This record gives sequence, C-alpha cells and structure tokens, in this order.
Amino acid sequence: MHQLVLIIDFGGHQAQNIARQVRGLGCYCEVLSYTAQDSRAGKNPSGVILAGGENDCAAQYLPDCDAPVLNAVGNDCVPEESLRVFIEDECKITPDWNMQSYAEAQIASIREKTAGGLILLGLSGGVDSSVVAALLSKAVGSRLHCIFVDHGLMRKNEGDEVVAAFKDRDISLIRVDAGERFLARLKGVTDPEAKRKIIGEEFIRVFEEESKKLGRVDYLAQGTIYSDVIESGIGGKFVKSHHNVGGLPEHVDFKELIEPLRMLFKDEVRELGRTLGLPDYIVNRQPFPGPGLGIRVIGEVTKERLDTLRDADYIFRDEITKVGLDRSLGQYFAVLTDMRSVGVTGGVRSYDRTVALRAIITKDVMTAEWAKIPYEVLAKASSRILGEVGGVNRVVYDITDKPPGTIEWE
Ligand code: XMP
Repeated sequence: MHQLVLIIDFGGHQAQNIARQVRGLGCYCEVLSYTAQDSRAGKNPSGVILAGGENDCAAQYLPDCDAPVLNAVGNDCVPEESLRVFIEDECKITPDWNMQSYAEAQIASIREKTAGGLILLGLSGGVDSSVVAALLSKAVGSRLHCIFVDHGLMRKNEGDEVVAAFKDRDISLIRVDAGERFLARLKGVTDPEAKRKIIGEEFIRVFEEESKKLGRVDYLAQGTIYSDVIESGIGGKFVKSHHNVGGLPEHVDFKELIEPLRMLFKDEVRELGRTLGLPDYIVNRQPFPGPGLGIRVIGEVTKERLDTLRDADYIFRDEITKVGLDRSLGQYFAVLTDMRSVGVTGGVRSYDRTVALRAIITKDVMTAEWAKIPYEVLAKASSRILGEVGGVNRVVYDITDKPPGTIEWE
C-alpha cells in the first residue's frame, strides 16, 4: 500500500493539475470532491491538499484527520519545490509511486481476483484499451479474450498495427473484419448524427455477436482512466459522461468489471504501456474518436473516399512526426470535405476534392486552440497530398478554435 495524499476538490481544474504534479513527484494521491464526505472514510491520508474553489471556501475547510494540510487556494499549480517539501518533509512520505510497482501490484491482484475466470476486453487499438490488454495478458495469459472490431474506419495501417503489437503476447485476440458491413449500413447516409448512431449501434451488434461465440465470460475489462472517473462526477464534479467504445457492459453477462487504469492519469497510462513493452506507435497514439474516419469523411462514407482520406491523413501525420511536432500537438489529422473545386492538374482542368488539415493544442479537449504550425510543414504536406493522392486538387488548413468549432468536423 502506498501512502496517500488526499486532494480535496473545491471546483475548477486545479485539483487535476495538482494531482498530476503530486503523482509526478512519485507520491500516490486521489482527488475527492469536498462534498464527498462519505468517500473519505477509511482513507487515512498522510497529507491533505485543498485545491480550487472560487469563493475562498477552501480556506475555511478543516479536514477530519490529523494529517498536514496544504492550502493551494485558486493556484493552478504549486511550485514543485514547495510541493516536494510538503510531501517529503511535512507529510513524511517516501516517494515510491511508479508504474513498475503499479504494474506488479495490479498483476498480483488481478490474478488473485480472477482465478480461473475468463476475461473479455474490447480492444480498440487506442492507448487505454491496449495498455489494459498488455497488463491483463501478463496477469492471466490466454484467459484474456480480446475482441478487436475493425470497422474499416481506422487510419492507414492501423488495424494491422494493433494486431502486430499483440502478436507475441499470450492472449486470444479476435480481429473482426467488419468493414463491409459498416459500409453497407452507412450507404447513402450523410447526416453526422445519423452516421455516429449507425456506427455505434453496429459496433455493439458485432461485439455482441462475437462475444456470444465465446460462451461464458466471467469478467469484462475496460480502459476507464482517472480523468474519466473525476469528470464523471465520482468524487468530483460532473463535466460530461464518458463512453468507452470498447466496453459494453449492459449487453454482456459478466460477474464483475475490471478497470485496472481507473486510478491513472493519461501520462501514467502511457508510462505503464512503456513499462509493459508496448511499441511507441501505440503508447503515443493521439486520441481517435470511436466512430473513426466515418466522422472525418464529410457526407457519404464510401470505400473510395475513405481510402483517399487515409492517404492524405497518413501524409500529414508523417510530415508532423518528421519535424517532431507530434509530441506537442494534441491532435492532428485530415478531413475529406464534400466540396469540389476547379483546378489545373497536370496542365488540364480538374474538378476535384478538397482536403482540410486540422491540428490543435489542448489541455483537456473541452477547449482547443488551432495550432500555429510552421508554413513549411503545411507546404510540404500540401504538395505531397496534391502530388500523391488522386482526386484531390486543393488543401486547406483549419484555423478554428474550440469553441466555437469542435475538434472533429462532425
Ligand atoms: P469534439 O469534436 O467534441 O471532440 O471537440 C473532443 C474529443 O473527443 C474525441 N471524440 C470522440 N471520442 N467517441 C470518442 O471516443 C466519439 O464519438 C468522439 N467524438 C469526438 C475527439 O477526437 C476529441 O479528442
């Protein structure tokens, strides 16, 4: 058991920021709303930090324990040295929180909890579900059954990359090639919400069909992470409810939910993935929406339009990675618009598609700034897309913040 610093959240984003700082100093901490008195029972923290709050209510708050208290009222972050002094000198905490020891503890506890049982995981190829798969494969080996529904809306090479990342691990990985089925359902559909609904429903249907083939399943695993837990209002405030495409508990019979990342922040999840030996292309993967390229092809989704987008998106990502911008950008991707315009291609008139490039910087995806990436990078991406991708004769760059835009176009 690690010594605990309890962060009492009085509102705003400070509590999460400070929690990340505390974890970064090798100390385990949890965030609880100041209203969640019941959840504090039995926690026995070695230190308490009061975070956030606009009305100075934190200053009047007295925790119901003897542990030292640090009042960070309204500060976004605490100077690192002050935090270190508080944790190590005042609270007498030995920094021992790291992903190696976390992995070992989780593996032991999952083994004990699930002895002999079968575990089902919806693997999307995103960072969270991939790290859960890597962790569970170490804990239970082939008792883990992963279903990877390839809806045909993944980025270039992505489906194969997911399978390759797990090929040497002791798990049962079922890849369901459902691309044609999704395309059939999406035929003629242009409304963004209708597309999202169809993709979501079809995903559940395929997942259900495949999981039924497995027969009995004892546990369902999910890649829920700590910011989802805090933002869904458990011990924190409600911001939005999160849905993990991979996990579909209402439709599958199981005894218990296994959520081994529930106490980890995203950067810790990535670190855990590295510790478990996952490749960089999985661990550093940027967020990708559940409906995939289905909401980045504007208008009707067809195989041909998906392939065009995949090629353009691949080139843009390649150019971003080449200059090292992938580490500072939140998301960067291409969108295939539904407009055509006149151009001159190879000396003759063309009337072809427009590709939009979008790159954003964000802390929490609730707001985002369009990224001021160098013109040379845009120029290179544009000339490559125009030269290498057929049927495209115009490339534009999206300079819209969120709000009023959203990150995705649909
Ligand atoms: P928006 O477009 O709402 O996106 O600004 C915010 C973040 O959420 C991602 N996104 C989704 N993720 N299922 C997901 O798992 C979805 O349906 C979905 N829609 C948007 C988006 O990529 C961005 O990171």
